[in-house]
Amino acid sequence: MATPILIDTDPGIDDALALLLAWNSPEVRVDAVTTVAGNVTVEKATTNVYRLLDLRKPAQLPTVAVGAAGPLARALQTATRYHGEDGLGDLADWPETEQAPASADAAGVIVQHARVSQRLLTLVALGPLTNLALALKADAAAMGFVGRIVAMGGAVDVPGNITPAAEFNLSVDPEAAHRVLAAKLPLDLVPLDATRQTVLPRAGLKKALSRSPGPIASRITAFSERGFRIDHAGGAQGMVLHDPLALALALDPTLAEWEAVRLAIGPEGETQRVRGEPNCRIARRVDVPRFVRLFLDRLCPPSPQRRASS
Ligand code: RIB
Ligand code: CA
Repeated sequence: MATPILIDTDPGIDDALALLLAWNSPEVRVDAVTTVAGNVTVEKATTNVYRLLDLRKPAQLPTVAVGAAGPLARALQTATRYHGEDGLGDLADWPETEQAPASADAAGVIVQHARVSQRLLTLVALGPLTNLALALKADAAAMGFVGRIVAMGGAVDVPGNITPAAEFNLSVDPEAAHRVLAAKLPLDLVPLDATRQTVLPRAGLKKALSRSPGPIASRITAFSERGFRIDHAGGAQGMVLHDPLALALALDPTLAEWEAVRLAIGPEGETQRVRGEPNCRIARRVDVPRFVRLFLDRLCPPSPQRRASS
C-alpha cells in the first residue's frame, strides 16, 4: 500500500523536481501539499504548485494549503537570485492557473493529516520549517503521531550555502528549526552533507528527458535551465538535487546511510553537533548512482506516444 505523504514546500526549481518525482512514484500517495515562504513568497510558491499540478495532472489531486508568509521571528530572506523572481526560472509563457487553495491554514492541514494518517504519514519538508513549527504549536500531540519526518536542511560537517555554517532552509527560520528539533519527533534530516553528493549534469537531464518527449519534458528543461546556469557559474558540474534527494529518501531510506545525532540550531540556523541523546538522524553517504537512476527514470512520465507503443 502506498505511504500517504504531505509535502511542505517553497517551489523553487529543485522543489518542483521533487514534486514531479513524487507524482510518478508508486510508493507514495501525495495527499497534501502545503506551501511556505522561503525561496520565494508564499503566494508565488502557491502559484508554482498550481502551475506544476496543471502541467503534471497527477491522478490524485492533493489538498493544497497556503502556509506561513514568513519566518516565526525574523524577516523573510528569499532565494530569487537562484530560482528567479517567480521561483521557477522566470519563464514568460506559463499558462494562467486556476488557484483554489483548499485552505489558508497549512498548519491546520498538517495537523489534520497527522491525526488521520498517524503512523502511516510521512511529512516531507523541502523549505523552511515554519509550517511544521506552527503545527507543533497548534497540536503537538497530533504531530507526535506522525510516522516519519524527512526534512531537507542543515550543514553538519560541511560548509553552509548561506553563511559558512548555515544552510538556506534552516537559516531562513532558525527558531522554527529549533522547535522542530526540540519536539522529539522521528526526524530524518537531509543536509548539504548528503545533497552535495548529488550533482546532476545538464546533459544527464537532457538525455533522460529525451526518452519522454512532450510538454512536461520541455517545461522541465525550461524551468531548470536557470538552476544549471547558476550552479555551473558557481563552478559546479551540474545542478545539486537538494529536494529531490530528500523526497527520494522519503520513498526509500536505503538510498543513504544514516547517523543518529544530537543537533542544536545556532542563531543563524547553523546545525551544530552537541552532546546528549540523539534528536534526529542525518543522511550521510548516498548511493548516488541508484538515486540518480530512480530520479531520472521517474521525473517525467512516458510521453503518450511512448505509452501507446509500449
Ligand atoms: O539549501 C537548499 C534548500 O534551499 C532547498 O530546499 C532549496 O529549494 C532551497 O529552499
Ligand atoms: Ca526548497
